[in-house]
Amino acid sequence: MTTDAGQDWDAAAYGQRFGFVAQLAEDLVGLLDPQPGEHIVDLGCGTGTLTAQIASRGAEVLGIDADPAMIEAARAAYPALRFEVVSAYDFAADAPIDAVFSNAALHWMTRPEDVLHRVAAALRPGGRFVAEMGGGRNTELVSAAIRDALARRGIPPERQARPWYFPTPAEYATLLERHGFEVRALWHFERFTQLVPGDHALADWLTMFASPFTGDLTAEDRAAFHAEVEDATRHALYVDGRWHVDYRRLRFVAVRI
Ligand code: BEZ
Repeated sequence: MTTDAGQDWDAAAYGQRFGFVAQLAEDLVGLLDPQPGEHIVDLGCGTGTLTAQIASRGAEVLGIDADPAMIEAARAAYPALRFEVVSAYDFAADAPIDAVFSNAALHWMTRPEDVLHRVAAALRPGGRFVAEMGGGRNTELVSAAIRDALARRGIPPERQARPWYFPTPAEYATLLERHGFEVRALWHFERFTQLVPGDHALADWLTMFASPFTGDLTAEDRAAFHAEVEDATRHALYVDGRWHVDYRRLRFVAVRI
């Protein structure tokens, strides 16, 4: 995954406990509709689960990710496939490609115009950009609890980290059009997502994904921070004995004009 926030990824834990991130987006590969022989880049491929599904349709796929640990895990899991450590901000294709695919990665890239510039430049006219990311109001409850916990530590909202980018449908469609895409379809929907069961599943999620907010805390205070976020959200996110996260997805199919 490509992030601007200096996030350290634990690729093994990501694959084991957060496999649902790829599972829940398997139908996105259907929307991409990869054809045999097409050249496709999986942008922010993580551990390569969906890259492999695209390859299984006969496409020539390259998985790229800025995080070396993710690429190492992807190569180990799928040795026959091509993976490279490349940031979305540096990505360029040798020759125009047929499609760019991305799942759960674009929201870590806080300069979306720079990413879209790269994607548009890589695609042939008629090439597809098919992606899913966190959309407007994604993780609203968790984010509010994080911001309150930071404020209690004397970090006001204007000094808090902003590692995530969750655009509204209107905002992202405008960016796509500005970069030469026709938006063929766009969805914005709730995905209240059950985490792998465990009393501290939300704390595990925070450890994996929210470290840009907690990097300056001591280990002891980080544990207290996680407990505060759990306490603040339990009424809404701990349902039927299971922790959930209040995801909202933005999913789109766009074509390079
Ligand atoms: C997401 O997939 O929506 C997400 C993941 C980690 C942090 C924030 C959002």
